[in-house]
Amino acid sequence: MHFFISVVLLVAVLPTMSYAEEKIKHVKTENISEIKALPDDLRNLLSQEMQALQSGMMSIIPAYISGNWGEIETTAEKMKSSYILKQSLTKSQVKELHSALPHEFFEKDQRFHYLAGMLEHAAKNRKSELINFYFSEMNESCVSCHMVFATHKFPALMPKTRSKHVH
Ligand code: HEC
Repeated sequence: MHFFISVVLLVAVLPTMSYAEEKIKHVKTENISEIKALPDDLRNLLSQEMQALQSGMMSIIPAYISGNWGEIETTAEKMKSSYILKQSLTKSQVKELHSALPHEFFEKDQRFHYLAGMLEHAAKNRKSELINFYFSEMNESCVSCHMVFATHKFPALMPKTRSKHVH
């Protein structure tokens, strides 16, 4: 019974999925050129922020395996609130960024910050399984944004359908 339902769902969902993929392929080069076209100061801040996020994510593993919940809480809180949009940017730079990048970028960014907040909360409550869950969701959210906006940095994240045509 469960199997049947899954098959029916899969069949219903598949055409939508490939449509979505087509759409992503279509806008992909556009998204990347929007990132590349950012003024140097904004783009440098973005890079710095990304490096900081990566260090934060990497520091969570040793903290997690040793039960250092307090450190995870602090790191997650930093990731939640440290984003360039909220701290280093002037008001006019925020406007500039918003007009330079598509709405999807900010949706993905918001999702990431929401998850960091949830991770902070899980660490505060010392819920080891939830910490693991939100850590993994955060990793997923890095990839999901990079697939759309950073394939110039991470070409391996390009959709397979696309690279097939490259000989
Ligand atoms: C909302 C979109 C978005 C999210 C979420 C995101 N990134 Fe990025 N990331 C980018 C973009 C865009 C670039 C490319 C920046 C450029 O080319 O200047 C990038 C680049 C990077 C780089 C390379 C930076 C450099 O210039 O050397 C690293 C490392 C990185 N991201 C790590 C992460 C990690 C770790 C996460 C998740 C914890 C994450 N990113 C989440 C958009 C995102």
